[in-house]
Amino acid sequence: MACLRLANLDATNALGARLAAALRPGDAVLLSGPYGAGKTALARALLRALAGDPALEVPSPSYTLVQSYVTPLGPVHHFDLWRLGSPADVAELGWDEALEGIVLAEWPERLGPLRPGGALEVALEIEGEGRRATLTGWPERQV
Ligand SMILES: Nc1ncnc2c1ncn2[C@@H]1O[C@H](COP(=O)(O)OP(=O)(O)OP(=O)(O)O)[C@@H](O)[C@H]1O
Ligand SMILES: [Mg+2]
Repeated sequence: MACLRLANLDATNALGARLAAALRPGDAVLLSGPYGAGKTALARALLRALAGDPALEVPSPSYTLVQSYVTPLGPVHHFDLWRLGSPADVAELGWDEALEGIVLAEWPERLGPLRPGGALEVALEIEGEGRRATLTGWPERQV
């Protein structure tokens, strides 16, 4: 487990780039934390680094529920599960198929029994003007 202080958005962007460099096909990254904690910002930074495109459009999936991207590591699916009522709704969105690629998921509490083993969990908290990130998982990897 690692605890990081992210003093500003630049620090969040740097963490996103580090996660992108450690990412492999089939991975799941679960982004938890309250509203405005920076879950989408971190996913955006990760996707931009992965795509090698700092201007890549990465809208919040809060209304579409999932946004998919083509990257050099294959498909990446960015979910926002907040509006889903049950794990059955998550399954209906194509969760199992998505896991064949890379999955980034906000509000992973909604997954219940669908929570994937071996995921990296990033818990974000608001701390003053900045954020705190607690990383759990991927014990064999350098993040
Ligand atoms: N380390 C940081 N320091 C200060 N502000 C940050 C940091 N990281 C992200 N932010 C800012 O936090 C705000 C909210 O971020 P974001 O929309 O990513 O939150 P979220 O967790 O996805 O929220 P929601 O639960 O509504 O989806 C954005 O304005 C973003 O720029
Ligand atoms: Mg969000």
